[in-house]
Amino acid sequence: MRPTLIFLQTQFFLCVFVSVCVPAVVVGSLPHALPWHVSCPVRCVCQIKPWFSPDSVYHEAPTVDCNDLLLTKLPVPIPLNTHTLRLQSNLLSEINTAALHGLPNLTDLDLSQNRFSHIRTITKSSPLPSLLSLHLEENHLGHLPDASFSSLPNLQELFLSHNNLHSITPGAFAGLDSLLRLHINNNRLTTVDPRWFKALPSLEVLMLGGNPVEALPERGFQALRSLRSLVLGGMGLRGLAEKALEGLEGLESLSFYDNKLTKVPTQALRRVPGLKFLDLNKNRIKLIETGDFKDMVHLKELGLNNMEELVSIERGALENLPELTKLEITNNPRLSYIHPQAFLRLSRLESLMLNSNSLSALHQHIVLSLPSLQEVSLHSNPLRCDCLFHWAADEASHSHIEETQTSRTVRFIQPQATLCSEPPELRARKVREVSSREMSASCLPMIPSSSLPSYVGVREGGKLVLHCRALADPQPELYWVTPSGLRLGPVPNVASKGSPAPDPCHSMTVSEGFNQTTASSISTSYTQADTPCNPSKHYQLLPEGTLEMNKVTLAEAGLYTCVAENALGADTRSVTVGVHGREKKRKKGVDVNVKGAQPASAFTRLEVREVGQHYAILSWQSGHNLPSTRLSWQAIYSNAHTPTYTTRILAGTQSFNLTHLQAETFYRVCLHLGISEGDKHAGKRSRESRKPQCVSLRTKDIPEPQPSLQISPELTSTAVTLLLLALILMLLAGQGWDTEPSEEAGKQHITILQEIKSPTALIINQKRSNGNQSKENEKCVLDQDC
Ligand SMILES: *[C@@H]1O[C@H](CO)[C@@H](O)[C@H](O)[C@H]1NC(C)=O
Ligand SMILES: *[C@@H]1O[C@H](CO)[C@@H](O)[C@H](O)[C@H]1NC(C)=O
Ligand SMILES: *[C@@H]1O[C@H](CO)[C@@H](O)[C@H](O)[C@H]1NC(C)=O
Ligand SMILES: *[C@@H]1O[C@H](CO)[C@@H](O)[C@H](O)[C@H]1NC(C)=O
Repeated sequence: MRPTLIFLQTQFFLCVFVSVCVPAVVVGSLPHALPWHVSCPVRCVCQIKPWFSPDSVYHEAPTVDCNDLLLTKLPVPIPLNTHTLRLQSNLLSEINTAALHGLPNLTDLDLSQNRFSHIRTITKSSPLPSLLSLHLEENHLGHLPDASFSSLPNLQELFLSHNNLHSITPGAFAGLDSLLRLHINNNRLTTVDPRWFKALPSLEVLMLGGNPVEALPERGFQALRSLRSLVLGGMGLRGLAEKALEGLEGLESLSFYDNKLTKVPTQALRRVPGLKFLDLNKNRIKLIETGDFKDMVHLKELGLNNMEELVSIERGALENLPELTKLEITNNPRLSYIHPQAFLRLSRLESLMLNSNSLSALHQHIVLSLPSLQEVSLHSNPLRCDCLFHWAADEASHSHIEETQTSRTVRFIQPQATLCSEPPELRARKVREVSSREMSASCLPMIPSSSLPSYVGVREGGKLVLHCRALADPQPELYWVTPSGLRLGPVPNVASKGSPAPDPCHSMTVSEGFNQTTASSISTSYTQADTPCNPSKHYQLLPEGTLEMNKVTLAEAGLYTCVAENALGADTRSVTVGVHGREKKRKKGVDVNVKGAQPASAFTRLEVREVGQHYAILSWQSGHNLPSTRLSWQAIYSNAHTPTYTTRILAGTQSFNLTHLQAETFYRVCLHLGISEGDKHAGKRSRESRKPQCVSLRTKDIPEPQPSLQISPELTSTAVTLLLLALILMLLAGQGWDTEPSEEAGKQHITILQEIKSPTALIINQKRSNGNQSKENEKCVLDQDC
């Protein structure tokens, strides 16, 4: 009865977090204890019990069980053919091993949970050549001197976890040539000495976790040529030297559970090509980056669970892992994004565990890219049941061949708990029971709130990293807007065709017509704020949407807005960045400089760039990030009963093409500058900044049909009236209108809100959670203060 190596390995992997990893799991299915008729020590129990050797061979072992008896010395008489002697949970602080010397078959000695503080009190006297297994967990051992175990020449398993070990001499394990398994986890070791392992050429399993070791030495394990399983959990490791795992050619199972790693130790992992099981659970990894797990050709199982800070799995994060069958990425409260091409060439992946994250969807591309996928677990995620999720919809509703292929074999784990949380009409429905017809065909971009907090603090001179991700179909483009209105990212496609492409630093450029003196008052504040306009140097926008800034200055505090945009719409999310000043550290309460909103209208001027028959291009300059800016427009006729249209302007946009206008018509267009919805620092000034900037314009005439028709007297008179009206309006516009519309004018117009659905007027994806509030905002008409 010899379980395969795979079994052994799986077993190790499973009991990574259990200090004693005995095949107890299996015992239940094996024969129970048999009576052993022998003269047993008082209060002890003597039975024949199942026992597994360190290499997993089953034995029927004569066992003397004297656990929990408050013993202070060895019980007598111990039967001669005792194989296993259990003395767990007693009060032993020394034993006379001479008494054990006479037991030729003593194989397993359990002295755990006693009071041993010196190893010599156990091992100094007679050798115990038959002993294979020694349990000394939960004692008070503090130090291991040279050759501590030389009297146990055939020892195969040594359990020293949960002691007070703070020092182990380089030669402490001398003589343990046969040792297969060593547990020294949960002690007080602060360093790992490579010399310890020179005496352990046969070692297969090493548990070293739970020691406060912050860094592993390079080539520290090189002597352990036979090592197959290494557990380094709970050590406080912050990183891993490139050569930390050098020489572990036979290593199959590796655990970094509960450390402080901030990145996947990719370079170090390349040195262990035979790895099959890898556990990185509970670390501080924020991103699984491109190439982090690449070409690990033997990897079978990977765990990336319980990471508080994990936000994103990037494109090509896992690539060419031909043996990977199980991938677990669960219980990561901030994980909201898995790139559609995150998993490349995982031809054998069968089981994909993604439950209890913040995922809104599992992109169809992912499912399609995994040919062997059999089961997926997605419950306890805020799932959005729209076009991205069609593959998961009710199978009965699939009519297309390619759809049935994706849902063909994929089984949902806990389908009863896999529920839609968006859109509202499908909320709490089971994903698998929603038909694909019910799921909307469009996928607006959505930036999950979990990926971006509302406030981030950074030290002056430190590095600021903001992660923004959005899933949508088509794939959205992301850009950032800095507090000074600088737009970082792809060039806007609205109104950009006809007009010159905006400079990446366009907030710094002063356009023609933009009054120099007005600008100068602001430009002084910028020149300190921004380093000379060179975004590529100071700012870095990574392809997936992460904004990085080095050496942040106090003046760079403020509101940063991420915008995700595709052909269907856009979503935005703003984060307030506070910069903690160096010199002000001592003063409490003043150490955060969050720049409040400036009176934006003072230097924002709305201009008409170009007018056509049915469109008008407007542009404006703004030296600030104004994420809730709106544009409103209204045709002006004599009767004045015309609707006012409004549209939200995406942060960082500085021009807009108003389309679907009527020809030969006067329009009044206003720009309503807005700070963030939740900006607490705006205060009094925000009211000022709300003052709309307005201009009037007239769309072009429709060319007269040639030859010109006779104009009826009626028509001409209308034309004259219109012309007169136009003149009056222009006069009006020249006077008070550019600053603030008169109250009378406001009462005159009955404003009707209408959303414009044109290809260029972007409709912002309203967040449902504060849907009522945003609707309210939309209703703000130009003359009312709302
Ligand atoms: C020790 O074990 C062997 C093999 O199982 C057995 O033959 C022998 O009798 C045992 N010795 C004693 C003293 O029980
Ligand atoms: C503005 O929109 C109109 C109508 O859709 C279009 O003809 C015109 O080319 C657009 N102008 C720019 C600069 O995009
Ligand atoms: C800007 O305004 C000032 C007065 O406010 C005026 O003297 C100056 O000529 C203007 N400059 C331009 C370029 O319009
Ligand atoms: C929106 O308003 C309606 C009625 O005023 C209310 O029943 C609903 O709960 C509100 N929803 C949110 C998200 O506030």
